[in-house]
Amino acid sequence: MKNFQNKTELSNFIGTLKANGNTIGFVPTMGALHNGHLSLVRKGLVDNDIVVVSVFVNPTQFDNKEDLNTYPRTLEADIALLKTLSNDQIIIYAPTEDDIYGNQVESQHFSFEGLEHEMEGAFRDGHFDGVGTIVKRLFEIVTPDRAYFGEKDFQQLQIIRKLVELYSLSVEVIGCPIHRAEDGLAMSSRNERLTPVHRNIAPFIYETLTTAKLKFGTESAKDVTEWVYEQFKKQPLLKLEYFNIADIATLKPIKQTASDNFRDNKSYRAFIAVYAGDIRLIDNIALN
Ligand code: PAF
Repeated sequence: MKNFQNKTELSNFIGTLKANGNTIGFVPTMGALHNGHLSLVRKGLVDNDIVVVSVFVNPTQFDNKEDLNTYPRTLEADIALLKTLSNDQIIIYAPTEDDIYGNQVESQHFSFEGLEHEMEGAFRDGHFDGVGTIVKRLFEIVTPDRAYFGEKDFQQLQIIRKLVELYSLSVEVIGCPIHRAEDGLAMSSRNERLTPVHRNIAPFIYETLTTAKLKFGTESAKDVTEWVYEQFKKQPLLKLEYFNIADIATLKPIKQTASDNFRDNKSYRAFIAVYAGDIRLIDNIALN
């Protein structure tokens, strides 16, 4: 399996592959790969001749130094996992910070038509500037035909779509369904850092989301939201940071009445962020 640390060598190699008629899929990751990532790579392998997987813990998207320092880095295990999918159709790009940022580890500032101010943007200062910066740079290096992102980070997915639109980038962005453990917990590299007690209680997040979805059929967004906040008050091991029902196009929270929920032709999702001890987990569910 080819493994590049240097962007120029990678770009040259991809240039030759493309000149020979190969299509390129791209799965950007921060490593600590799990089945959720593998499902993106599998989809990439079906759609393209070659899939590039980047493994880079991007410092500019972390608003919390502790989270950045403790983020799992497991490159050898990641490579071994990718090899189980394909040895010759996958290319790894695991750059150093210097290869991406040189001596300026800074974000570009973006305006994503307000998408960046909602939810994760409101709670994680500068997060989407960091994501926009790294994804734009990676797209320039990899020049993929298609790029794959999980719907667990649904706000990120919408922001990447906006990035592609605003900068007229010639890449197709493909959103892929959330991968869950058997007990419903959305797969995340952060799950490895949960204590056994918190891991045990964490499926409560998805259970609450599925009940919220049922309630959305008959109750207003405001009532469903209040109900979710009540449930988490009874759950001392989990701290709810936010729960929102939002229009997926604007990501703005809605407060409409139950009868309105299915009358318009908009799509709604419920979004949640929860602390399980020190670990911050996010999840979401389509409501209609
Ligand atoms: O979703 C992630 O893992 C990261 O935000 C991404 C897209 C790899 C950018 O660092």
